[in-house]
Amino acid sequence: MEQLSQKIDELKTEILKESLSDNDSIENFRIKYLGSKGSVKSLMGLMKNIAPEDKKEAGRLLNELKEFTENIYSEAKIRFQELPSSAAEETDYTLPGYKFPEGSRHPISIVSNKIISIFKKLGFSIAEGPEIEDDWHNFTALNLPENHPARDMQDTFYISKNPDWLLRTHTSSVQIREMEKNKLPLRIICPGRVYRNETISARAHCFFNQVEGLYIAEKVSFADLKQTLYFFVKEMFGDDVKVRFRPSYFPFTVPSAEMDISCLICKGEGCAVCKRTGWVEILGCGMVHPNVLENCGIDSSKYSGYAFGMGIERITMLKYQIKDLRLFSENDVRFLNQFKAL
Ligand code: DAH
Repeated sequence: MEQLSQKIDELKTEILKESLSDNDSIENFRIKYLGSKGSVKSLMGLMKNIAPEDKKEAGRLLNELKEFTENIYSEAKIRFQELPSSAAEETDYTLPGYKFPEGSRHPISIVSNKIISIFKKLGFSIAEGPEIEDDWHNFTALNLPENHPARDMQDTFYISKNPDWLLRTHTSSVQIREMEKNKLPLRIICPGRVYRNETISARAHCFFNQVEGLYIAEKVSFADLKQTLYFFVKEMFGDDVKVRFRPSYFPFTVPSAEMDISCLICKGEGCAVCKRTGWVEILGCGMVHPNVLENCGIDSSKYSGYAFGMGIERITMLKYQIKDLRLFSENDVRFLNQFKAL
């Protein structure tokens, strides 16, 4: 089975290298890969050697390979069918131009832009930080010292040249970088990509996107946090959506909470997506822990603040009722071109 999937990958790489620059090369491509003696067919012939328990997955991979190859072939054909077969033919300048397929925004970008525009209305500005982070900004300054058990939930990829560097596990590291600048009050949101050492499945990936929010000033309260998040949910999902807070634990906030919204699919009745509870978790939040403020040189007796962090994939899946996270990174245009700006 492993051998088969390796062969499929190798064939895909080979296919992507083919130059489909004229009608002859497109026809040769068809014969070489899709013909009755072509490489795709011959890989399909390997099905009979696959163990019965692997047959289903093998079938799926082979079908996907076939579709992949057919798509490349038919796109190339469309691109070239209008080209004159010989350069000697006269050019007719009155013909309409060749059609170029129009791109569209990725659903993650659409939702990320929407989230940003909602918080901008409330006076938040955007801050960004590096994806390769150091231990201090990703963990230690956030009240997660070395050997803290909560680090286990965010295993990540370390840079072997310098084990103090890692791919950030959350956008909370940007909070620290901004607070260290000591320009208060601070009201920011930080969108960006984050990484975790996770096995890829329909619900988890080794990279995904988050938006972090942070507000630090004098006399900021939990009520401010709630009102801000209520506003966000109404703008994002509409007036009918219900919201609830549950007590939770994050080392960098105290008190901490998780926020759920009523399930958009079953309207709170209970379904497979909300695991029959009627609620779906969308973010973590809380009041910034005094240790975190002090770690950034901020006087915690004078200033307080709230923070929250949400996964953009999760919000996008809820918004568009997408059930498998892997679709976001497969680059299949049939999936991607269905989304219009919000
Ligand atoms: N950083 C957390 C995570 O990735 C999410 C989070 C929770 C961010 C609470 C916050 C917060 O700012 O206050 O799981």
